[in-house]
This record gives sequence, structure tokens and C-alpha cells, in this order.
Amino acid sequence: MDKAIGIFDSGIGGLTVAREILRQLPQENIIYFGDTARVPYGTKSAKLVGKYAVQDAHFLTECGVKLLVVACNTVSAIGLRELSHQSSVPVIGVVESGCRTAVKATKEKKIGVIGTEATISSGIYPKTIKELDPDVQIMCKACPLFVPLVEEGRLDGEIPHLAVRAYLSSFKDEVDTLILGCTHYPMLRTVIEKEMGNRTTLIDSSKEIVIEVKELLRKKGLLTSTGQAANSHRYFVSDDPEKFKKMARLFLGEENIPVEEINIEEY
Ligand code: DGL
Repeated sequence: MDKAIGIFDSGIGGLTVAREILRQLPQENIIYFGDTARVPYGTKSAKLVGKYAVQDAHFLTECGVKLLVVACNTVSAIGLRELSHQSSVPVIGVVESGCRTAVKATKEKKIGVIGTEATISSGIYPKTIKELDPDVQIMCKACPLFVPLVEEGRLDGEIPHLAVRAYLSSFKDEVDTLILGCTHYPMLRTVIEKEMGNRTTLIDSSKEIVIEVKELLRKKGLLTSTGQAANSHRYFVSDDPEKFKKMARLFLGEENIPVEEINIEEY
């Protein structure tokens, strides 16, 4: 059997990336790991996130995956280089593809970036964007309330609306392109769109990374060529599979996915 694509995240949020891979590459099997016991990563130190990322990658590599997709923006922002050096399989993160798409999309050369505290304070987004186009002006903001809102299933209505307004009112009219630099933020897309208005293009890293995944697999001759839809997807978590299953309904729209629990500290 062809090897699966490994995807990991600090928890459930990476299912936005899994969803896109399943949609755009239906012939590929995936193995997903969500570190639900240690989420959130976005408020932790770079050192700790780095250690967690190595363990997550180690687990998936032992499962025999052919590629590691780092769905978590926080890990992509602060731990990707280290992971790529250590890994025996190719590693791909979400930052670069999001930046590239944003630079192509901006007409006024004004890009906004939102993410977790760790992602924003890493400075990786402005650095990457400036490397692609030094003339772009960039505004960045950490939006720490967005992750708990999504985890509570509050995707619309007054509370997310107020939170989005509080964080993003200063971005309105200042940027024409906004990178959703966190796994959870695509779930708030409707509310963010309402606040920003239709003049702003939203860049969803989960969609953009799949284009790169496809291209990388093709170049390395690793694309699955059965021509049939894959159906051996596996999902692992480091805490309570039942809670993950419930949330997966929201993210994937699927009932009863098979979820197994592992002890990530062993890796
Ligand atoms: N997965 C994280 C990210 O994309 C968000 C949740 C967390 O803080 O762990 O940055």
C-alpha cells in the first residue's frame, strides 16, 4: 500500500488542513496527530514548542508516513527549520505558501497577518513577505481569543463578532490582503469577512499549503496513483478521543472518525 501523508497540529485546528488535503488529494491516505493534551502551543515558549514538534514528528515518522505536513502555524513559524534538519522525510509548513499567495494577491502592497502570540512574535511572516517583496507594508496582530472561541464552537454571533472587531478594526482600510496565520482562523472566516468588508482578500493557509503538498509529492514521485479514493485515514490524539471526535464533526463535517489515543511523551 502507498504510504500516507502525515499531518500534525497542537490539537484539532489542523483539521482545517486535513480537510483540504482530503478534498484536493482524495487518493491520498492521511495520518493525523493532534496534541490535544498539550494544546495550546501558541502561548508557549519557542523552546517548548520545538520539543513538542520533534516528538510529534517522531511519532508520525514511526508510523511510516512519506511526508510531514506541519499544519500548526506556531510550529511552522518557530520550529520548521529544526524539524527539516532532523527529519528523514520531507517536511512542509504553512508559512511560506500563505506569504507567497498574499504577495501575489495584494494590489496595494499592504498585507495584514494575524496569528497566535508565538507566531506573531517570531516575526517570520514579515521576514518571509519582505524577502518576496521588500516594498510590501505589513501589519501584524496576535488574536489570542480566536482559538478558544473556535474550540467552544462559537463561529458566529455576537461574541465572535465583538472579538473580531476588537482585534481587527485597526486593520480595516489599512490592508487589502489578510493572512489567516493560524489553523483555527479559517473557521471564523465569515465573521472576519463581515468585519473587513469585501475589499480585503483573506488568505487561508490551509488551502494554499495543499497546492505545495501536491507539487512536492509530484516532484518526488510520491503521489498515489491508484485513481481510487483512499479510505484508510487514521487519527491520533494525546488526550480524550471522544472530545476530538465531537470537534472533528465541526471541522470535517464527518461523524465517527476512528480516533486513537497515544502517549506522546514516549516519542
Ligand atoms: N495550531 C495553532 C496555530 O496554528 C493554534 C492553536 C495553538 O495555540 O496551539 O498556531
